[in-house]
Amino acid sequence: MRIVIAKDYEDMSARAARIVAGQIYLKPNSVLGMATGSTPLMLYKELIRVHQEVGLDFTEVTTFNLDEYLGLPKEDEQSYNYYMFHHFFNQINIKKENIYIPDGMTKDIELECKSYDRQIQKKGGIDLQVLGIGNNGHIGFNEPDIKFEATTHKVKLDEETIQANSRFFNTMEEVPRFAISMGIKTIMHAKKILLLASGENKAEVIHQALFNGITPEVPASILQLHQDVTVIVEESAAKLLKPKLQDLQRTGI
Ligand code: GLP
Repeated sequence: MRIVIAKDYEDMSARAARIVAGQIYLKPNSVLGMATGSTPLMLYKELIRVHQEVGLDFTEVTTFNLDEYLGLPKEDEQSYNYYMFHHFFNQINIKKENIYIPDGMTKDIELECKSYDRQIQKKGGIDLQVLGIGNNGHIGFNEPDIKFEATTHKVKLDEETIQANSRFFNTMEEVPRFAISMGIKTIMHAKKILLLASGENKAEVIHQALFNGITPEVPASILQLHQDVTVIVEESAAKLLKPKLQDLQRTGI
């Protein structure tokens, strides 16, 4: 695991964008796993800039989003589908048919989940998965006490997640209670993982995820077992990590 401390949100996003852009330069038909939330917003902005100014080409790129709320149509401004088109896809030259996001309005959730995993496999697996981290340690919508062997599945959102998400909705009643999410197994099959954490409110959980034991109570802790993870942590989120990193350096690890 490579842990990089970025000096601020801009620096975290620029470093992340270099990794994603580098992946596309090296393999133009890369399969990317995409995340939502506030954390990757500037990463997407930066990739749009690189596309517009330097011609980073997305025509052969395929994307799979981590998750989607159940019960929200694509057009709903709070859906992750809307988020991705609004903040990213509409401003790059990716082909619509290469964009995969779970269908939050599906009539057959089980089938939707199975075919999502099948599509990922058909495309040769995810080359680079971008991840944020929830306040409770979730990745995608894999909430605490998740089964690590889960593939894409229906999730009941945690009370803490519902509270965190409520900032985007007018009333508590509107906040979705369920979602479809790639499972931990799906995420762990990605060839490379890029985990981003920003803001002081993530300091505790990112510390737990990277330096405490591996436990379903902190789903992101499973990433300690992945062979190719880069974690970019913005300064304020890294305040509990710094002493640990110094210790590792001192012991030469
Ligand atoms: C949501 C998403 C996650 C994201 C998390 C953190 O729950 N499903 O993929 O990582 O929020 O969001 P933020 O980046 O806004 O803190």
